[in-house]
Amino acid sequence: MDKKRIAVIFGGKSSEHEVSRVSASYVISQIPTEKYEIVTIGITKTGRWFLYTGALENIADGTWEKDENNRTAFIAPAPSVHGIIIINKDGTTEKLPLDVVFPVLHGKNGEDGTLQGLLEMSEIPYVGCGVLASAECMDKVSTNIMFEHAGIDQAKFTWFYSYEYEENAEKCIAKAEAELPEYPLFVKPANAGSSVGISKAHNRDELIKAIEKAAKEDSRILIEESIVGKEVECAVLGNKDPFVSIPGQIAPAAEFYDYDAKYNNAGSKLFIPAHISDELAEKVRKTAAAAYTALGCEGLSRVDFFVTDEGRILLNEINTLPGFTSISMYPKLMAASGIDGSELIEKLISLAFERAGKNV
Ligand SMILES: Nc1ncnc2c1ncn2[C@@H]1O[C@H](COP(=O)(O)OP(=O)(O)OP(=O)(O)O)[C@@H](O)[C@H]1O
Ligand SMILES: [Mg+2]
Repeated sequence: MDKKRIAVIFGGKSSEHEVSRVSASYVISQIPTEKYEIVTIGITKTGRWFLYTGALENIADGTWEKDENNRTAFIAPAPSVHGIIIINKDGTTEKLPLDVVFPVLHGKNGEDGTLQGLLEMSEIPYVGCGVLASAECMDKVSTNIMFEHAGIDQAKFTWFYSYEYEENAEKCIAKAEAELPEYPLFVKPANAGSSVGISKAHNRDELIKAIEKAAKEDSRILIEESIVGKEVECAVLGNKDPFVSIPGQIAPAAEFYDYDAKYNNAGSKLFIPAHISDELAEKVRKTAAAAYTALGCEGLSRVDFFVTDEGRILLNEINTLPGFTSISMYPKLMAASGIDGSELIEKLISLAFERAGKNV
């Protein structure tokens, strides 16, 4: 059987550039090379696209960018190319057809439907959620509205545009305090990941600072009541009738799971399975499947919840391209459910072909 050519795209302009590099290293290490020829495309923080042909070890730490063999390369939107265009050092160009793309990009321009739009145009099958599900899950205001419509329990929330806040800050604060009368409140830019721009406000002064911080990240600001509970997550895999892993739990070392607690603070812990009853675990899994389907997710997603001591299950968010490092919850939950790294990657690739209506 001929090998299929898979492109892994990593890096990107988002605030999660570094995490993406580590995720991509892991993903690449799990792709079976007897079946696939791997092409790696790195996007720098300034948005330059390169075909990288050097060692896998240089991806995680960013030194791949210095490789002198890097050539500018990008996905062509035209389906006639069905792959990438490479610009050689002497200015000549080359076409390299691809069978499938695995976008290992977190956050803006990678996980939000934009790259997925380009891949739709190119007609190249790709791993993960499509345009709409990616965009809706990336935008926390849209996600909450969709959950509300689907009847999925979540924290009470309100939102406004940052320009509304600039025009009339008092009105926005009054609206937030009227709808969510009890501090602390969580303030989030609608479009952000890895907790960037998120704050917990304990009083009005902090609320104002938090809104100003969030407004730097995005044009829509989400405010939520604060939920006291365990942070429980499920890994979901599939197109229709998805498979849901057993739930895991994160125990942040900080007051909440901020960027530092996620990536720098070794005190944060993962528990697999989550410390909840079997009955609650079953309900969490059912809700994860319902949310995944309601938002039209495909391929994979990590669905994150709060579970309170009273047994309330509240959906927090869906991550369509969750962290994929060797210590990340998504691959760990799948492994705990019997699907190990390379089997998981192969399954994800075959789901991409399945969605595109192609047989592998
Ligand atoms: N309504 C809430 N009540 C209590 N804690 C919250 C609430 N919203 C967020 N948090 C805390 O803040 C963290 C980050 O929030 P959230 O998961 O919404 O953002 P994120 O940046 O999208 O994270 P991710 O990297 O998981 O995509 C959560 O893991 C949780 O610890
Ligand atoms: Mg989160």
